[in-house]
Amino acid sequence: MWISGGCGRCIVNFTHAPEAGQRLISCLTIRPPVPSIPAMSLTSLCLRFDQTGSPADVLKLAERSLPPLGSHDVRVRMRYAPVNPADLNYIEGNYGRAAHPPAIPGHEGCGEVQAVGPEVTSLKPGDVVMPLLGAGCWAQHLTAAEHFFARLPESIDPVQAAMLRINPVTAWHLLTQHVALSEGDWVLQNAANSGVGRALIQIARQRGLKTANFVRRIELADELRQLGADAVFTDDEKGLEEARERLKAHPPRLAANAVGGDSALRQMDLLAPEGMLVTYGAMSRRSLKVPNKFLIFKGLRLHGLWITRWYEQASSQELHDALEPLARMILDHELHTAVEEVIPMAQYARAMQRAAADSRAGKIVLDLA
Ligand SMILES: NC(=O)c1ccc[n+]([C@@H]2O[C@H](COP(=O)([O-])OP(=O)(O)OC[C@H]3O[C@@H](n4cnc5c(N)ncnc54)[C@H](OP(=O)(O)O)[C@@H]3O)[C@@H](O)[C@H]2O)c1
Repeated sequence: MWISGGCGRCIVNFTHAPEAGQRLISCLTIRPPVPSIPAMSLTSLCLRFDQTGSPADVLKLAERSLPPLGSHDVRVRMRYAPVNPADLNYIEGNYGRAAHPPAIPGHEGCGEVQAVGPEVTSLKPGDVVMPLLGAGCWAQHLTAAEHFFARLPESIDPVQAAMLRINPVTAWHLLTQHVALSEGDWVLQNAANSGVGRALIQIARQRGLKTANFVRRIELADELRQLGADAVFTDDEKGLEEARERLKAHPPRLAANAVGGDSALRQMDLLAPEGMLVTYGAMSRRSLKVPNKFLIFKGLRLHGLWITRWYEQASSQELHDALEPLARMILDHELHTAVEEVIPMAQYARAMQRAAADSRAGKIVLDLA
């Protein structure tokens, strides 16, 4: 069924949403024992790690047999999956949810339905889908119950679709779920050149919000302005002074923080009284330092966001309300994630090194062909 009740205009569709908390089970753990259809005598490649550690060192290309297809199951031939900081942290053993090796990483991706069990009603072979699983996307095949997949429009760019589930949804959440913003309001963000940051600029523009963006590489300013950034500053004391001048007539009530340390301190400085700092990343690996005066006299509010938890708790309607407009923006070329390189999965060590490197021009995406 269309998740919004079958209006026929929806472009993201998935069936019988799983119970809250069940969406993030690894594909390795959700094979139903019975009933099942015999597995095809096929093997499939995946990227696997048997112990946590440096991704380029511990990851390996492995072969596995396809699990049997349960009557409610869907087998998807995965096409693309990005390498996000969360994937690297997961393999290193530094993520919010512990990895239990042997494990297949990959928090998001995009593929095409290859086979469906006899009781499957919402998907058919050939459908383009995005897994809603919490891991396991770095594999040529994924087998899971039909409600673990969202169907996407056939014509969507599969590389862009592979990067829809996490960063754009995080940016959407930051802009819509914390502070009631009106058209023309300003929002602060650091790491503005990140996947989340660029998505936030594009979503904010579409919603009539203005963004003040802090970057560590000011040479990116023109590129971000072309995406829709209203102001770009270096993430240092000089940038803070410039931003103070630019924003004094309309102090922002929301700041999105993916860096921490001094960068977050500058955001707190710029926020309006009772403004909110939402921390969703820690790229500098520096903790937040909160001067007492910001809490006592300025009344700032500090929140954290982990989109994984949101996925665990979101209702079908909430999932739909987030994913549908974002998929439509991708289709309409209003939302684009920069890609540095699409790298074949067999070159996984290089892909991990590139993803961990500084000053990338965009995401590293694994080609799972
Ligand atoms: N909480 C959640 O649910 C959630 C969801 C999605 C992402 N995240 C987090 O959000 C952050 C961004 O993720 P992403 O996938 O958008 O990242 P990404 O596209 O891989 O980009 C990483 C960004 O971090 C910046 N950066 C790297 N090291 C830095 C440092 N030491 N100090 C300041 N900035 C630094 C980079 O700056 P340059 O552009 O100059 O290279 C780049 O803009 C990560 O921390 C990720 O874990 C959290």
